[in-house]
Parts: sequence; C-alpha cells; structure tokens
Amino acid sequence: MTEVNSAPDQRYFGSSEALVFSIDCGTTQSACAFAHLFPGSTPQVRVVTKWPGQEEAAGDSKIPTLVAYKRGKPIGYGADAIEQEAAQDGELAKWFKLHLHPDSMKVVDEPPEYGSDVPPTFEVPSLPTGVTLKKVYKHFLKYLWDHAQSFFINNTVDGERIWNRLGDKAHIVLATPNGWDTTQQGFLRQAMIDAGIITKEDEERLSFVTEGEASVHYALHYSQSRSWMNEGSMFAVTDAGGSTVDSTLYRCKALVPKLVLEEVCASECVQAGGVFVDRGGQRMLNEKLSGSKFADAAYMNDIMEEFERKTKRKFDGTQTSIIRFGKDWDNDRPHGIVKGRLTLTKEDVTTAFNAVTPRIVSSVSNLLDGRKVEHLLLVGGLGESPYLRKALKDTFGSKGVNVVTVDESTKKAAAEGAALWYIRQLVVARAVRSTFGIILWRPYDPASFHRERRHRAKMDHDGSMKMVDLWETWLKKDHVVGEETSLSFNYFSIYKKLPSDLGTFSQDVFAYDGEEDLVWGRDDKGSLAPGVRTVCTLRADLTGLRPSLRSQRGPKGEEFYRVDFVISVMLGGTSLKARLNWNEGDERREGPVTVIPNSIL
Ligand SMILES: Nc1ncnc2c1ncn2[C@@H]1O[C@H](COP(=O)(O)OP(=O)(O)OP(=O)(O)O)[C@@H](O)[C@H]1O
Ligand SMILES: [Mg+2]
Repeated sequence: MTEVNSAPDQRYFGSSEALVFSIDCGTTQSACAFAHLFPGSTPQVRVVTKWPGQEEAAGDSKIPTLVAYKRGKPIGYGADAIEQEAAQDGELAKWFKLHLHPDSMKVVDEPPEYGSDVPPTFEVPSLPTGVTLKKVYKHFLKYLWDHAQSFFINNTVDGERIWNRLGDKAHIVLATPNGWDTTQQGFLRQAMIDAGIITKEDEERLSFVTEGEASVHYALHYSQSRSWMNEGSMFAVTDAGGSTVDSTLYRCKALVPKLVLEEVCASECVQAGGVFVDRGGQRMLNEKLSGSKFADAAYMNDIMEEFERKTKRKFDGTQTSIIRFGKDWDNDRPHGIVKGRLTLTKEDVTTAFNAVTPRIVSSVSNLLDGRKVEHLLLVGGLGESPYLRKALKDTFGSKGVNVVTVDESTKKAAAEGAALWYIRQLVVARAVRSTFGIILWRPYDPASFHRERRHRAKMDHDGSMKMVDLWETWLKKDHVVGEETSLSFNYFSIYKKLPSDLGTFSQDVFAYDGEEDLVWGRDDKGSLAPGVRTVCTLRADLTGLRPSLRSQRGPKGEEFYRVDFVISVMLGGTSLKARLNWNEGDERREGPVTVIPNSIL
C-alpha cells in the first residue's frame, strides 16, 4: 500500500471562482483583506492598502475606526472624520467597539499606575447624540465595504469584470474578539444587512472567526518556523491593539486535516493598548516641558504626532530618541530642545511605556500561571513594539515560555488571518466525505474477535475456514485529498470450478458514515451494518483469464482456482476513483475506471 499524501494543499478546489473579503473592525484601527479564488490555483490574500483621506500614507493597511456625525448624520469616516468633526463642529463616534463588549469582558484586574489618568474601570467614550450603536456599525461597515470594493476593482487586473461577475456573491468574514458570542455576532449580522452588504436571504455569505484564531492563521502563514504549533500543545496568543490587549490560551487539538484549536479558558482583556502609551507619553512630555513655551498646545500636537508615529514605534528600551518638531531657531536647552529637536532619554520613553507594560505582563501572567505553556504568540499594532517584545521575552523567557513574533507587520494579522482562515476551511473541505472500503472474507482466526461470530464462519473452496462480512477500510472519513496519489489493495477470489461467468467479475464498494472504527461490514444476519451503504460497483472482464488459470489443490485434495487482483483507489482533483487490475499471464489488464460518487466534500 502506498503512503497517502496528507500535507496540506493550499490550492483552491472549489468548482467555480469566488471572492472572499475579510474585515477586522478594531477599536482604534480597522483593516480589510481579500482573495480571488480560482479553481486549481493557490489564492493570494491581499490587504486594502489605500484609504481615502490618508493618501499621504499610501501603503497604510489600516484606517482609524472613526465616524464623525452632525445632527445624527454621518459626515466623515476614518482619518477624514477627525477633520470633519473639527470643521463642521460635529461629534465623533470613537472606540465604539467597546460598547459591544459583553459585561464579562469589561474586567480590569490591575489598578492603574499611580498618578496615571487611566480610569480604574474600562473607558468607553459615549456615542454621538441621537446615534445608536447599530447605526454607527452600519455606517462604518458600509464605508469599509465600499472602499474595499473600489480598491479591489482598481488594483486587480480585470478587477471590474471580476467584480461584476462575483461581487454580489462574495463571501465575507468578520473577525471578532474572543470574548464575543452569538449575541454580538447577531448584532453585526443585522448591521451588515442594514448596510445592504448582505441580505437576509443570503446570510450564509457571512461568517465569523475570532481575532485570536485569525491571528494564528496569519502567524502560521508568515512565521519562519512552525515549531510552536504541535498537536496537543498549549500556546497563548496576545493581541496588543490600540485600546485593549487580549490574551487567549489555546490547545492545538489537531493539525490535519484541519487546524482545530480549543480555547482553554476565558480570554484576558486589559485596557492597556497603544493609545495608553500615547497618554503616558503625553503626561511625561507635559512634565518635561513644564515651564517651556513649547508646552503650548500647538507645539505639543506636533510633538505628540511624532511621538506616536516614530518614537513609540522604534523604542527598544536602550536608545535616546529625538523628536523633530520645529524649526532651526526653536531652542530651549534647559528643556532639551535644540534646533527644533527634542531629545528624550531612554528613561523618558520608558516612563510612557510604564503606563501599559506592567499591566500587560500581569494580564499574561494571570493566563499562564500554573499552566504548561511553551509559546506565546504576540500580534497587534502594539505587539510590533520592540520594547514590549523585549519586556515579554524578559519576563516569560525565564519561565520557559518562548515569545513568538512574526517579521511581517502584525497589525493586519486579524484581517489577513481571517481570509486565510476561510481559504483554509475550503481546502479542508477537500477531504473524504465518508469512510470507504469493502466487505471481504479472511482466514478464520479463533484467537481473535472472529470468535464472536464463529457460527457465521464458512468453508471456502480451497478447504480453509473463512470469516465473512469483515470490513476493510480503504480511506477514512476527513482524510485530506492532497496531490494525485493512488492506493492499492491486493485481494484474491477462490473459485471451485472455472465458472462460465468468470467474465463478469464485480466488486461492490461501500461507504460508512459513522465515526467509530468498523469491524463488521454486515450484521450477523447478513444485512449491511448501520451506517454502511453501497456506493458503486467495480467491474472487470475476466474472460481472457480462463485459458491461463491453473487449478490448485487444497489440503484435502479439493480442486480450486484462485484469481488475484489489485484494486487501485485514485485520489486527486475533486473525486475518488477506483479500478480493478489483474494479470493475464504476463500481461497487466485494467478494468474501467469507476468514479465513486459524492466521495469528496
Ligand atoms: N511598531 C509599533 N510599535 C508600537 N506601537 C505600534 C506600532 N505600530 C502600531 N502601533 C500602535 O498599535 C495601535 C493599533 O494597533 P491595532 O491596529 O492592532 O489595534 P486595533 O485592532 O484597533 O485595536 P483593538 O485590538 O484594541 O481593537 C496604535 O496605538 C498604534 O500606535
Ligand atoms: Mg485588533
């Protein structure tokens, strides 16, 4: 029997081309990804990298999760929302995702740093007057969807035609926090319907994946080594985002045919994301520049912008940082400002990170405490911070936990990972639908389970006792069909005389839909066992064999004929096929190929 190839095959084996879009609507930032699935090719997931209002930041994969309202009507989205809010005296819907968190998630187990302005409970800004949360989601999702669509059309070869063909059937995956359940998903589904992205009739176009699981798929796709993912092992995923840092503990239950992850316990969520580093930075700068004319709001805004975009992102705990914010003539040496540049010591920037790092470390410790966890996968925007990476490595490395990071930017992990997750489900769907096999006779073995049916044992034509109705598995249910492979099984049939009808040999093939291992293909009355059904019959024209077959003699001198044959089961493409092979003298003969109907999902 040949070895079956079970390595995951990333090609898309659907019968028709399709589009999949994924949306990660984060507290502070959102992102979209998509893939064009074409039968037989390996899909590439791409991220939407141009958003209106942030043209100067082309290549930016994320857009601020913001909607500006004026008298209950949306007037601006994303980066543009901030400007519209100011210009039109509107109101901003910000961090609105936090309104949807179930109460069970709003836990802060650590008191805030002394002197910090982080409130002891979750900070959830209120919504603009007269605007419901459903409305905000409806508007924002519609905005994301419209721009993901135009990005696809404008940045894909033949994009418009592909969109016209497949756009209204596109599958959409939403990444949602691990602590959310069907209530929150139902809310989002309704918002998607209200936004006109899907209709009530085609709800099955929408699926959900947790942000944690999506991140795992992203990391598996991009990390150099996969040694952190083993069957049976436990690992943690920490998603350090803009507002919250969510940590989830997983056990890997299976890798093939499909990655099966089990959440070991409820996730830990702490409000200690990137914006709280900014706030820590703001506080540190206010103190540092106190008494300087550069503490003025106009300068401070520019300084903070540089801090957020550069200083915070580059800081690794060892370097002196320089913030360029002014002109050559902007000097204030006592406050560290020379020629429009402000110098910050490593202690200064560390102070800013102190607003979050200890809280993240303690949240992760809560999760890992007393458990044998070997790996911690770090993702999210703040997860890209060299300082945070180092802090986690220092703390947990000594406890035997390996902190896994991905070279690729991980703020897009949830969006891109959600599309990867969906494609992976499709690949897995190319698995064998049922267990397939045949029912046969084998020499009776009184020392084995055959005993329980000894009354059914039969004397074969060669004089030996045979156990009948035995099940033999060819391929087990859920086996992933990889590259073209074939399996072969050797059998023989015994004939008393050369029957005149040797010409039409046939063999039934059966499917079994149950989960347990099957021993008997029939019950002891000879009817098919529960869950077993006939799926097809393989045939062979053996007429050519007659002249070459030689008779044999059994132990008591009985004359019989033995016909040896091989059944080849061919896997690949989207179906299972089988055929009979036998030898006529030295010549190999083949029966017709029979397709086993509905054999692959
Ligand atoms: N290299 C970096 N180093 C440190 N912080 C970074 C870096 N890149 C981005 N950030 C910060 O990450 C935050 C955004 O992260 P992300 O996009 O993962 O959040 P989100 O998904 O909106 O939030 P949440 O997961 O809380 O819903 C911002 O505060 C941003 O300043
Ligand atoms: Mg996020």
